[in-house]
Amino acid sequence: MTELAKVMKEQVGKAAAQRVKSNSIVGLGTGSTTAYTIQFLGEFLKSGALTNIVGIPTSFQSEVLAKQYGIPLTTLDAVDRIDIAIDGADEVDPHKNLIKGGGAAHTREKVVDYLAEEFIVVVDSSKIVERLGSSFPVPVEVIPMALSPVMRAIEKLGGKPELRMGIRKAGPVITDQGNMVIDVRFDSIDDPANLEKTLNNIPGVLENGIFVGVTDLVLIGEIVDGEPKVREL
Ligand code: 5RP
Repeated sequence: MTELAKVMKEQVGKAAAQRVKSNSIVGLGTGSTTAYTIQFLGEFLKSGALTNIVGIPTSFQSEVLAKQYGIPLTTLDAVDRIDIAIDGADEVDPHKNLIKGGGAAHTREKVVDYLAEEFIVVVDSSKIVERLGSSFPVPVEVIPMALSPVMRAIEKLGGKPELRMGIRKAGPVITDQGNMVIDVRFDSIDDPANLEKTLNNIPGVLENGIFVGVTDLVLIGEIVDGEPKVREL
């Protein structure tokens, strides 16, 4: 990642953290952009700019970061609402529909992000696409014993499935729930809402990374005249 790209992520992560109000329950997303949001939330708590927030993590990554930056955590058993969730995305279309799951955390992210009163997505401008699936495959979390039949079912739907392999870990990526992830390329995703349901209907699929009709606001980090800027969609 270039220094400018880092600054862009930092700016957009900070802009999202600035939208969090005191006394709120906050869904903490996963990824390199929301890592900055978590860092700034911790700093705002420390400085007193923000008081009495509790976080609900969407992954081991966000749990570890929240602890590192001093954000108290809770669970969905202990609260009956989430006021705001902030999360990254791998693709965003003009209707604010998303592909998520680049960090294999889309199942927990979907639970938390869909429950939030307000859902803010933080991305850099490279994630904005005209049509979902243009550059990023759809991540599908699968229980391990169903891997082969799910792969075959996805091929019948016209998708090209590939088991996600670990980096600096031999063998497949294992999710925080102990499952595997299949990344699926489709020639064209004309109806994301329908594809989301169809994939989830395959026995053995836990959840896929298509998020439809849930995003309230997208904050986009971009470089304008050599300077990092944040704009809204
Ligand atoms: C994890 C995700 C991430 O939010 C998504 O991959 C974006 O990550 P980054 O901010 O590092 O680009 O969906 O499952």
